[in-house]
Amino acid sequence: MDLNSDMEKILWTEQQISERVTELGSEITRHFKPETASPVIVGVATGAFLFLADLVRKIHLPVTVDFIRVESYGSGTVSNGQPRISFDLKIDVRGKHVILVEDIVDTGNTLYCLIDYMKSKGASSVSVCTLLDKPARRKVHFELVGEGKYYCGFECPDEFVVGYGLDFAELYRNLPYVGVLKPEVYK
Ligand code: PRP
Ligand code: MN
Ligand code: MG
Repeated sequence: MDLNSDMEKILWTEQQISERVTELGSEITRHFKPETASPVIVGVATGAFLFLADLVRKIHLPVTVDFIRVESYGSGTVSNGQPRISFDLKIDVRGKHVILVEDIVDTGNTLYCLIDYMKSKGASSVSVCTLLDKPARRKVHFELVGEGKYYCGFECPDEFVVGYGLDFAELYRNLPYVGVLKPEVYK
């Protein structure tokens, strides 16, 4: 079984991702440097795990790290549109600056739900840092909270992408690059 041979093309190489992650880390460092409270970096499990791990090492500030899980896709390729929090935060985000870390923003359902949740928990600002944004698929408009910022690595074409955290049926997450799956693999 070779994951690489299931790929139609590579969109972003390991090197390109690494360079962009370094830039995003610098932007976040610059923006949050004047803050007295440490931002809380919240990874959206499972997809954000690799991006978060690389990103936090490029943020040169004290930060805390937590994870939350929202389920909306199951193992298929189409969102069922009803996100549900199935694994909750450990850290109390009340009065904190939260940075939600995502691998991809697709319909916007997941972030809409999580931003709302962070707001209800009393976060003083909610920012989003996503590796990929697929604007062609947006269904739900979400608004950041307070002075929250939106950081995005790359704009993603409307194709079925996997790798660097992104899965198809829970596989391909461990590929070091992001690529497009051959249609015969998911059909
Ligand atoms: C994927 C992706 C985002 C979300 C984006 O997660 O990692 O979290 O979908 O889609 P949306 O904007 O339409 O909500 P998924 O639910 O597949 O779970 P996973 O991270 O465990 O793969
Ligand atoms: Mn996810
Ligand atoms: Mg998924």
